Amino acid sequence: MTQAPPVNVTVTGAAGQIGYALLFRIASGQLLGQDKPVRLRLLEIPQAVKAAEGVALELEDCAFPLLAGTDIFDDPKKAFEGTNIALLVGARPRTKGMERGDLLEANGGIFKPQGEAINAGAADDVKVLVVGNPANTNALIAQANAPDVPAERFTAMTRLDHNRALAQLATKLAVPVSDIKKMTIWGNHSATQYPDIFHAEVKGENAAAAVNDQTWLAEEFIPRVAKRGAEIIEVRGASSAASAASAAIDHVHDWVNGTPEGDWVSMAVPSDGSYGVPAGLISSFPVTTTGGRYEIVQGLDLDDFSRDRIDASVKELADERDAVRKLGLI
Ligand code: NAD
Ligand code: LMR
Repeated sequence: MTQAPPVNVTVTGAAGQIGYALLFRIASGQLLGQDKPVRLRLLEIPQAVKAAEGVALELEDCAFPLLAGTDIFDDPKKAFEGTNIALLVGARPRTKGMERGDLLEANGGIFKPQGEAINAGAADDVKVLVVGNPANTNALIAQANAPDVPAERFTAMTRLDHNRALAQLATKLAVPVSDIKKMTIWGNHSATQYPDIFHAEVKGENAAAAVNDQTWLAEEFIPRVAKRGAEIIEVRGASSAASAASAAIDHVHDWVNGTPEGDWVSMAVPSDGSYGVPAGLISSFPVTTTGGRYEIVQGLDLDDFSRDRIDASVKELADERDAVRKLGLI
């Protein structure tokens, strides 16, 4: 039997923490499936190329049957040439004294050229996941600089928030996570995000009804999920890495292979105006996927409690968009 040609997967920030947790899972077949060989294309800044080379040596030593090869680049134009799946992980972290505007500007310097490189050289079927923070707005910058690529191919990661919400709810109800379906994260991957259990189901029963504890929902669950990234930084002394890599695998796996019947996942995708989110903002929604395409779940009722929280997070996204527009990045 002849093997399928390898899928080109570009990973930026390949020598970083998330990269180290991510690359081995991609190469082992967990990203795309056990019948899909992959060729890794790693992008790093020149100072980190040597460390990326070390990771490539370890990848070689795993003798993964599905890994067709690993190439390392410090030039985005080359790294995105022919890429089918682009995982944009590398970003400029916020350092002491840096304002949010400074962070947006610094990341613009990364995601603008990467968007241009994807536009110039990626494969026609390219799918992009932005993990590097601020993920939604970095995705917007990359997308705006890739006018020849359909906008819907640019997504940002809120699957980690989705998974965190599943885990917190499962613990509260003392059920396995697999009993919970239809969790939703709305808005920005930031502390303003809104994890919504009003449409979630626990073994077919409405999750909010099963919890029946508004105080827990408003004062524990929502802030715990929304601020979990900060909690990990505080406790671990570094930002989440393995859980972020795992969520990136889940995001792309489900985008490519489809969501199960009767369930959905959360992805930050360019809004089509659904649920009053201004068109074009890359905001998290409940989505189903099939045949490599996603669709925003329609027709969910939102009460004032949910509406106010979604609006607040969407406003933050609109403010970030306005800031990067002022900087000439989009
Ligand atoms: P890290 O600092 O360990 O690694 C980042 C890597 O990116 C470094 O090796 C760096 O050299 C590289 N890099 C910087 N600029 C680059 C460029 N222009 N091109 C290519 N590579 C570049 O960080 P990490 O822990 O791996 O986290 C990466 C990003 O993911 C951070 O922005 C972090 O905040 C974000 N993150 C997002 C989520 C999410 O849920 N969306 C979760 C966790 C972390
Ligand atoms: C996370 O959600 O764990 C990260 O986005 C936190 C961070 O600021 O890196």
